Amino acid sequence: MYVIAGATGRVGSAAATHLLAAGARVRVLVRRPSDADAWEAQGAHAWIADLEDRTGLAEALEGCAGFFALLPFDLSADDLDAHADRLIASIASAVIAARVPRVVMLSSGGADLAEGTGPITGLHRLEQALLATGTTVIALRSGHFQEKVSDVIDLARQSSVYPVFAASADVQLPMVATADIGAAVADAFLSPSASSEAVDIIGPGYSERAVAAVLGAALGKELHVALLPEPGWQEALVDAGFRPHVAESLAELYRADEQGLLAPRGDRSMRVHTPIETTIDRVLAAR
Ligand SMILES: NC(=O)c1ccc[n+]([C@@H]2O[C@H](COP(=O)([O-])OP(=O)(O)OC[C@H]3O[C@@H](n4cnc5c(N)ncnc54)[C@H](OP(=O)(O)O)[C@@H]3O)[C@@H](O)[C@H]2O)c1
Repeated sequence: MYVIAGATGRVGSAAATHLLAAGARVRVLVRRPSDADAWEAQGAHAWIADLEDRTGLAEALEGCAGFFALLPFDLSADDLDAHADRLIASIASAVIAARVPRVVMLSSGGADLAEGTGPITGLHRLEQALLATGTTVIALRSGHFQEKVSDVIDLARQSSVYPVFAASADVQLPMVATADIGAAVADAFLSPSASSEAVDIIGPGYSERAVAAVLGAALGKELHVALLPEPGWQEALVDAGFRPHVAESLAELYRADEQGLLAPRGDRSMRVHTPIETTIDRVLAAR
């Protein structure tokens, strides 16, 4: 039986769906009883648990063959690092208590670095904490999610502007569909590697200008790419409604990206292929 956290989210739901389709027994973790029914109808066992509740989480993990863990961001937290550290301590302690043999973790490019990458430093600490438990850890280090395009759809629809927080919109970066990461999570359980490893998941490469063209075509309008280079990031993020400490953390993440700090440096890499057109169609259909 595999336990899947974040089952109401993008990667967790895709992972659980793939495992169920492969005939595996799946326990999904949800936080609200109202999220349980749809999973039960698909043949999963739904369990109410919060990742911050180490006792409840250990109970949920009891007897499992593997656990999919992620480190959700909470932009309402007063201290992002303290919030991440509470989750990390709880997850690691529950993995020890339930003697979980294998953890597949949603990580990110740059998670090998302890600092200078904004919120990804939490993923570094989660990787380290899980490895210290003695379990086998498969850290799936993703690049940019293709779904981050969702953040700009309203603005693009209303004002035909596609904002880019970078000095250039023409740099090609690999972008991964979360559906592909979910499939990789399922594979990491069903075709397990013998030992811990960090696997870079590399999607097709796109520039932000190319993504803007695909989104514009899907919306039926031409989008104007608006470049926002540093040092305007912090102020623009605060203007967009982020609290100052969150804006600071995101600005550090963008800076790390521009400096190439999020590049793949894992033990091996895996190529995935869903194109951005498919993801944008899915995102628009779901709205
Ligand atoms: N965006 C990127 O480009 C990128 C790149 C690399 C890695 N990542 C990683 O991807 C993660 C997000 O993955 P995603 O997009 O699949 O997630 P998502 O769609 O944002 O959903 C978050 C999931 O986590 C659950 N959750 C939040 N707090 C929880 C808690 N305290 N206890 C239990 N469950 C909790 C949510 O449940 P509810 O429905 O109950 O809220 C939801 O199922 C990020 O946190 C980051 O670490 C992102």
